[in-house]
Amino acid sequence: MSKKLVAKPGEVEFAKGMEGVIARESTKSYVDGENGKLYYHGIPIEELAEHSTYEETFFLLLYDRLPTEPELAFFKERMVQYRDLPDDVYEFIARAARRFNSHPMAVLRTAVSMLALFDESAEEDSLPAHEREAIKITSKLATIVAAIGRARKGLEPVRPRSDLSHAANFLYMLFGEAPDPYYARVMDVILILHADHGCNASTFATIVVKSTLTDMHSSVVAGIGSLKGPLHGGANERVMKMLQEIGEPERAEAWVLRALERKQKIMGFGHRVYKTYDPRARILHDYAVEVTKRAGTEKYLKIAEAIEKVMVERLGQKGIFPNVDLYSGVVMASMGIDTALFTPIFAVARVAGWTAHALEQRIDNRLFRPRFVYVGPELEHWVPLEERKEPEQEPTPLKPLKKEL
Ligand SMILES: CC(C)(COP(=O)(O)OP(=O)(O)OC[C@H]1O[C@@H](n2cnc3c(N)ncnc32)[C@H](O)[C@@H]1OP(=O)(O)O)[C@@H](O)C(=O)NCCC(=O)NCCS
Repeated sequence: MSKKLVAKPGEVEFAKGMEGVIARESTKSYVDGENGKLYYHGIPIEELAEHSTYEETFFLLLYDRLPTEPELAFFKERMVQYRDLPDDVYEFIARAARRFNSHPMAVLRTAVSMLALFDESAEEDSLPAHEREAIKITSKLATIVAAIGRARKGLEPVRPRSDLSHAANFLYMLFGEAPDPYYARVMDVILILHADHGCNASTFATIVVKSTLTDMHSSVVAGIGSLKGPLHGGANERVMKMLQEIGEPERAEAWVLRALERKQKIMGFGHRVYKTYDPRARILHDYAVEVTKRAGTEKYLKIAEAIEKVMVERLGQKGIFPNVDLYSGVVMASMGIDTALFTPIFAVARVAGWTAHALEQRIDNRLFRPRFVYVGPELEHWVPLEERKEPEQEPTPLKPLKKEL
């Protein structure tokens, strides 16, 4: 054992949660937390949200440049070609929804893992093969999530159409009818805004797994598992539950103050990197104004705005501001999307970033192998069973189960 790695708490400096630690060099996206800016390969997120499409943004993330017109047309064709799923995956999704009350992210995680079993080239190890798998998985993930949404309501899946954009086809597969073009655009913007975000937890998980030179499906499954957590992708779902619990805009202030008194974290606020407004929250807020007007759901927007006001007054000086999740739920719920699908839709978008970063990792790979600061006992000796006693206090919060006599 290296002596240097044995440390008493506080003796060696390290950043809990790897705050500020550089994981690798990347050309994909940059989060300027101080100024509240986000760029994908140098292009401000506001410009992409206004002019781009999810397909074009995915191209940008993969190849580090915007496509020409024929390149974009061909890239879209490639994505369309992979939309459908193997029958076994559709059947699994239906069974999981019927037989168990499964978490939709757990169904998604298993479905992506299953895809590999029906993909003859999933294990092919070459750069073109990894690139093809990246496009395949990104394309199919939308189909899986739409099928999960329908299966949860006991509905048959709707097979993809080839004449619609990725976002419009997703809404078509979810609702069974071609969407209003405005809602298709809103979904496109949601997907663009969530497509990448620097070294976030799920992207980090994806590249750590990829760095072992494993297959693309394993890497994406790691990303899904990470995104599922409430501190990451699961926050948007919890924002919606909070808005429903508060119920009326007039009750928001008292509710937030009570929650803060109890040291509760308010979902949809705070960020490890942004210490000011998350630019995605501003864009989504503006869409929320229009979408809630169309849907007659202005009440939820007003509650979210009332929470924002109290939070910025109380915690703004501490760098706590709205993040992307505060308004994304309001927008999606107003479009008739179930709360349970919010995090899976985040995955439909973020898979572009996961696969782009996984390819970047593959092109310039070095195995991730950090170290722990070992703070346990330096040297202890094995004790024969008959000499051992139960400790007065357990060394960790875990308690071994005792057999009832
Ligand atoms: C995103 C998040 C995990 C970042 O966490 P982090 O960088 O580890 O920051 P910490 O949890 O250490 O918080 C730092 C301080 O701000 C406070 N804080 C952070 N987010 C807060 C929130 N949403 N509501 C109230 N207080 C918050 C913490 O209580 C802590 O206060 P303290 O210093 O008095 O103990 C955190 O802000 C959070 O849990 N937010 C709510 C969940 C969410 O919306 N996630 C989606 C992120 S896009």
